[in-house]
Formats: sequence, C-alpha cells, structure tokens
Amino acid sequence: MGQLVLRLENISKAFPGVQALQKASLNVYAGEVMALLGENGAGKSTMMKVLTGVYQKDEGTITYLGREIAFQNARQAQEGGIAIIHQELNLVPQMRVYENVFLGRELKNGLVTDRRKMIEVTRELLSRVRVAIDPMWKVAGLSIAQQQMVEIAKALLLDARVIVMDEPTDALPEEEVDNLFHVINQLKAQGKAIVYISHRLEEVFRICDRATVLRDGQFMGEVPVSELTMDRLINMLVGRPLSQQFPYEPPVEKGLALRVQNLSNRYLRGVSFELRRGEVLGVTGLVGAGRTELAKTLYGLYPADSGTMELLGTPYSPRNPSEAIARGLYYMTEDRKRNGLVMPMDVRANITLSSLNKLKNRGVLNLRKEKDAVNGYIDSMRIKTPSIRQRARNLSGGNQQKVVLSKALLTAPEVLILDEPTRGIDVGAKKEIYELINQLKAQGTAVMMISSEMPEVLGLADRVMVLHEGRKMGELLRGEATQEKIMAMILEAPAPEAGLEVKA
Ligand SMILES: Nc1ncnc2c1ncn2[C@@H]1O[C@H](COP(=O)(O)OP(=O)(O)OP(=O)(O)O)[C@@H](O)[C@H]1O
Ligand SMILES: [Mg+2]
Repeated sequence: MGQLVLRLENISKAFPGVQALQKASLNVYAGEVMALLGENGAGKSTMMKVLTGVYQKDEGTITYLGREIAFQNARQAQEGGIAIIHQELNLVPQMRVYENVFLGRELKNGLVTDRRKMIEVTRELLSRVRVAIDPMWKVAGLSIAQQQMVEIAKALLLDARVIVMDEPTDALPEEEVDNLFHVINQLKAQGKAIVYISHRLEEVFRICDRATVLRDGQFMGEVPVSELTMDRLINMLVGRPLSQQFPYEPPVEKGLALRVQNLSNRYLRGVSFELRRGEVLGVTGLVGAGRTELAKTLYGLYPADSGTMELLGTPYSPRNPSEAIARGLYYMTEDRKRNGLVMPMDVRANITLSSLNKLKNRGVLNLRKEKDAVNGYIDSMRIKTPSIRQRARNLSGGNQQKVVLSKALLTAPEVLILDEPTRGIDVGAKKEIYELINQLKAQGTAVMMISSEMPEVLGLADRVMVLHEGRKMGELLRGEATQEKIMAMILEAPAPEAGLEVKA
C-alpha cells in the first residue's frame, strides 16, 4: 500500500442553489491510481477544483504531505506539486509545445529567455512519457491525445506528486487509450499519486487501484478495486442495480428516410447507404474514418462534390444547417464545448435555440410553451440544475451534454444524427438516453448514431455501417455484427488514396 500523500476531509462547497459537496472525503496514495467516481453533477470536478485552488472550500481540511494546506489559486497548487488535467484542456493553441510547457515559468539566461534550454527540457520530458511530439510544434495542430501528453509533460516539469485527470479518455479515440494507460503506469512506477475521474467503468478495472464514490456531493465509500465487481460499483454509484445496459427494441418498418448515393468530397469517397424511418444505424470506424465528416456533409456544413441524396423521397442538398433543419435533419455535434452550447446563455435558451420557430405563435415566442418544453427535458433526462435560468457554463460536464441532446430532440427531426451521444454521461443517464433513442425509433425517427464505444453501437444499432478513411467498408446486421468482424472490415482496406484529406 502506498503512502498517503493527500487527504481531503469533510469538504463542503455550495454554489447558488446547489450544494455541490457535502462533507466529502478523498484519500490519495503514492504510486497508486485512485478512481473518483459518481454520477453527473456528483461533485467530482468541483472537489478537484477545490483541491487545486480554483474554488475555495466552505469547510473541511486538506492535508498534503502531512501538512494542512489551502491553495489560493491554481498556480499555487501547481507550484505545490499538484497538477490537474481538466475535463476541458487548458493549453494555448497558438503557442508552441515548449512555450506551453514553460508558460509562466520561462527559463532565463541572464535577461533573455533561454529558448534552447526550454526546448531541450521539453524534449526530455516528452521522451520520458515516450511520445513523439516535437517541442516546436504548435498546439493548435495537435490531437487531443497529444495535448494531454503535453499537459502531462507540464506536470512532470513541476515535479508534481499528485496528478489529477478529469475524464482523460472522454474525447480520446479508442486507439489512444492504451497509450495513455501505459503512461499512467509509468507515472505510478515513478511514485506519482493519480486521481482518475471517468464514467467508463471498465477503465476502473483496468487502471485503478482503489475507487472513491461520491453521490450528490457526499462520500459513499472507498473500496480497493480488487474487491469490486461491476454490479457492486454500479450499485454504489446510482444506488440501485441497473439491469440490462442496452435496452434494445426491434425496428418498426416505416419506409425510407434518407438515401445517399456515391457521396464524395474532400473527406468522403463514394459513400452510399440508406437510412430507414424507425431504425438506428450505427456508424463506426477508427479516427479519421470520416464519420463526423459524413454527418457534417449531410447537415450542410461541408459541400458534396458529387453524389446524390434524397430525404423523404425528395432530392436533398443542403447548403447550410438551417436548410437541413428546415428539411427535418438534425445533427448533434460531438464537440459540445465549441459547437453544442452557448456557455454564457442559460439552460432554457440553449435547449430552445434550434426550435424557436416551433415555439412561436404568429412570430412571438410563446414563453409558456418554451418553459414547459424545457422543464420536460430537465425531468426526463434528469438534468441537474437549480433552475432553467442557470448558465450552461455552470453545469457539470455530463449535464451540459444532456442539454445538447435535449436541444436536438426538441427540433423533433425526421432524421437525427447523434455524434458520440453518451460521451461524458454517467451509467444511469446513459441508459435513459438509450431508452429515449428507442422511443424516437418507435415514433418513426430515423437515427444515425456515431459512436466510438463499440458496445454501445453493438447494443443499440439495427445495422452497423463501417467507415474507413472516407470509404464505406461494409454493413453488418444486428446479430451478425461483432467487434472482430468490424475490425476485419477495417483491416481489409486498401492504402489511402492520394488527395484524400483524413481528419483526425
Ligand atoms: N461555477 C459553478 N456555479 C454554479 N454551480 C456549479 C459550478 N460548478 C459546478 N456547479 C454545480 O455543482 C454540482 C457539481 O458539479 P461538478 O462539475 O463537480 O460535477 P461532476 O461530478 O464533475 O459531474 P460530471 O460527471 O457531469 O462532470 C453540479 O450541480 C453543478 O451544476
Ligand atoms: Mg466533471
């Protein structure tokens, strides 16, 4: 058992209308990974922000290396040896990798900054985590996985003893997860203490040594992972057993919704498929497969160079999203932070933003109707917010995702494209979203679901379409689709063609 390096005890923190933490506790041990778990809004991120001085606690004590501490700001926490890699990464995109690593603590040689030394040290730090990133690269061009590694390099520079990772695999492609775990194991071997927040419970069993569970801001227990089973963990998290993670309902035949033939553009090479009303078409593939690009082309965000599309029997070639929405096709973006939400606006405005026409009577917004619609989603999706007037930015990550999904559903589209719909969502709420998808299906909505979580695709889709580097590799029916068959299809792919842009 590792040495106890950090202890948070009876921490409370309130925001207007929300008791985010209520006497919550957490122990962190050297050379171990402590999972910090709980439903959306349970208080995980808040607890870590209290630890790192982003927020000040209302009560409780924090003991670090045997002494009581209270960091006044994030910078002090860093200097003290506690690094945090936030749910939303924090690098400056326009700056180079080494500049980010040394931001605020540039090395000087006399009066001039010592660029050469900083580049050299950055290179050394990156090689310690064995990643091939050039210190001279601009952060803007890095993948999320690479940006995480830069954040880790930064933590190493500060010689952090505690490294907090808030949902590090949330936006990470499946292929990169192994690499991150490899790096985490190295950090453990160096004696670092890691706090690991995630909603992907199988990761707890792969990488964590112990788990602490919060519920509604309260401490529910600390358990060694060796004594945990998935069922027990879920029970601790949501307070009840969850039977049947994927509630599947067979489709009801209701006719063709979308026909796409030979669709090509910068990202796609002759993609053809059909989407029927009342079915869920899963779309899967590796990074750069063109899944999101296909969705954005259907939504009028990228032009098609050739090919034809038909929506509900009539020719379809949207020039922009408003046209797509008017025709009954809606795309829920995977990137909620940048495109899904208007952070300074409240929950109500965010949910109704794409449906204002529907909520108007003779050009005037019907406030009653708007409020009812919004409250309906807050109930059915259990969005945790003190009121419909709360700003989106103050919601927890998972609750923001639920707002984005509500906004999509309110447009009541004929064709709904969901891109990573359950990213960042807790186990209980995931199941509710799956049930909602089934309801839509029963009502005759055509659902296209893009997801990198293979069990989710296999568990919910009626058919699975496999894409690779902008091409369709094939289709599998529910029942015949397996992870192995999907991988085999991808591996059959010929070498990428010149002139095709592969987006990461
Ligand atoms: N700055 C803030 N102002 C107001 N309320 C806040 C603020 N930050 C967090 N909250 C509220 O505190 C509660 C806990 O939020 P927190 O972000 O800690 O949850 P979480 O456990 O990290 O959830 P998730 O898994 O969804 O990321 C939520 O109800 C959230 O809306
Ligand atoms: Mg969070």
